[in-house]
Amino acid sequence: MNLLPAEIAVSSSAALRLVDSFGRVHDSLRLSVTDRCNLRCLYCMPESADDFQDADTLLSFDHITRVVRVLAAAGVTKVRITGGEPTLRSRLPELLARLAEIERIVELTMTTNGMRMDSLAEPLHAAGLKRVNISLDALTDEAFFRITRRRGLERVLAGIDATLNAGFESVRLNALAIREINEEQILPLARFAKDRHLTLRFIEYMPLGGDRTWKSEQVLSGAQVREMIEREFGPLIAIPRPHPSQPSTDFQYGDGTASIGFINPVSEPFCGACNRLRLTAAGALRNCLFSHREWDLSQLLVANADDDSVLHTIRQCLHAKEAGHLITEPSFRQPDRPMYQIGG
Ligand code: 5AD
Ligand code: SF4
Repeated sequence: MNLLPAEIAVSSSAALRLVDSFGRVHDSLRLSVTDRCNLRCLYCMPESADDFQDADTLLSFDHITRVVRVLAAAGVTKVRITGGEPTLRSRLPELLARLAEIERIVELTMTTNGMRMDSLAEPLHAAGLKRVNISLDALTDEAFFRITRRRGLERVLAGIDATLNAGFESVRLNALAIREINEEQILPLARFAKDRHLTLRFIEYMPLGGDRTWKSEQVLSGAQVREMIEREFGPLIAIPRPHPSQPSTDFQYGDGTASIGFINPVSEPFCGACNRLRLTAAGALRNCLFSHREWDLSQLLVANADDDSVLHTIRQCLHAKEAGHLITEPSFRQPDRPMYQIGG
C-alpha cells in the first residue's frame, strides 16, 4: 500500500505529542462518563431535562480505557472525570481502577457535586482516584434549592466530610457566583472553605446552560469577587501559577489559613494556554467547550479500528481547534450541547 505523506505522518505519530495548529501541547483529557445528574443547576441543566443518553449508548469501560491508552501514548498525562454527575455512572470505581493502571496517566481527578461522595469517596480513593473537586455554590437550604432546584445541601456537606476523610491528595471546592442569584453566598462560602483550610475556586458564569438564559450582566468577574473577599478578609497574596495551562489564578489569605482561586474564562480568557481535549459520554471528541463540531470516536471503537485510525481522528479534531472562544463578541453563538452533555 502506498501511503501519502500525511498518512505516514499520522501512522508513525503515536510517539508524537498532541500539538494543535497554534502550538498548544495537549496533555489533558476531560472525560465525561454520564450526562445524567441528581441536581438541576440553573447554569447547566434545564429544570425539565430528561433527554439523557440510554445506558447502551454510553462509551463502554473497554472503549474508554482504549481511548485513554491511545491518548496517553500521544502524551496525555492527566484525566479529569466529569459528567453530568460522574458518580451516577454505575461501577465507577471499576473504571477508575482501570484508568489508574495506565502507566502514563499520572493525574487522575474528578469533578463532582458531592451528593454521592458519602458512600463513594472511599471506594474511589481505593481505586486510584487522586484528587477531587466538589462543586458548592450555596450554604443555606434556600439558596442551594434556588441554584440546584433540588434539595441536598446536607448530603453534599456529608460528601465533603467523607471526601476529606478518605485520604485524597487534594480536595478543593468550586463555586459559581452569579449576580442576583447567589451573590450573598460568596462570603459564607469563602468563610466555610477558609475555616476548613480548603482551597475554594470561584468560576465565572459561562454561556453553557441548557436554559440558554446567560446574560453578560449576570457575570460576576473574578476581580469583583476578589474585591469582596479582600474587603472582608484583608489583602490576598498572589501564588505564582505552577503551570501556564492552569486556568485558576490562586492566592493565599494573609493569615496563611488557606488558598483561594479565581477561574475567569469570561473576563480573562485563558485559551492561549489551553491543553485540554474533551470526550463526551457518548464518545464524541471535542476540542473546546464552545466548539460547534465534534469527532465521533465511538463508531471507530465499536468497529475495533486500529490505534492509528483512532489517533488520526483525534488529530483531526485537534487540528480544527480554534485560537479561543469569543464569548463576549456579538457574533458569539452558544454551542448546541449544554454543559451537562459535555463535561465541566
Ligand atoms: N459556567 C461556568 N461553570 C459551569 N459549570 C457548569 N455550568 C457552568 C457554567 N455555565 C461548572 C460547575 C461545576 C463543573 C462541573 O462545571 O460549577 O464545577
Ligand atoms: Fe449537575 Fe453539575 Fe450540571 Fe449542577 S453543574 S446540574 S451538579 S452536572
